[in-house]
Amino acid sequence: MNNNVLNNLSYGVYIVGCKINGKYTGCTVNSIMQITSSPASIALSVNHDNYTHKCLEETKEFSISILSEKSNPLAIGTFGFRSGRDCEKFEIIPYEVVDNLPIVKDACGYLICKITNKIETSTHTVFIADVLNGDIMDDKTPMTYSYYHNVIKGKSPKSAPTYIND
Ligand SMILES: Cc1cc2nc3c(=O)[nH]c(=O)nc-3n(C[C@H](O)[C@H](O)[C@H](O)COP(=O)(O)O)c2cc1C
Repeated sequence: MNNNVLNNLSYGVYIVGCKINGKYTGCTVNSIMQITSSPASIALSVNHDNYTHKCLEETKEFSISILSEKSNPLAIGTFGFRSGRDCEKFEIIPYEVVDNLPIVKDACGYLICKITNKIETSTHTVFIADVLNGDIMDDKTPMTYSYYHNVIKGKSPKSAPTYIND
């Protein structure tokens, strides 16, 4: 099989935010898709080893900050290559709070989600969640995963579902 064909699948780039033990944390993800429209629900794939996985399992709620092409790529790196186990990412990246959950300030929109179900795989959990709230923050173009790779020249770590070892 030519694994590179999987690079032709399309995604966005997002920051998942959660609150655990009074602190905000989260990670960068690309693996979000809308599942139903009424009620609005989404799916999100998270690696078992990520600290965010533990937080989602425990709290069952999270925010999604939808990044735009103008969002500071520092957020993608901070949330995507460091762990909330040893750093407070939301102390580095400016945020606001909606419904008790952190939203990256220069995102172009956000969703507030409640986990209703999950599917296990060998390395990742696919969380299914209802969208309880959400808004557009500005009219900038949402960042695609291919923009992140081809224009920003960003990389993805091993824990990302789309990682290819080449
Ligand atoms: C562009 C990009 C996309 C990513 N997508 C995912 C994803 O969909 N699911 C996932 O589990 N990790 C993904 N990651 C990796 C996590 O963000 C990374 O492992 C992070 O350090 C986990 O932090 P935590 O331990 O604080 O949860 C992605 C990283 C990048 C840079």
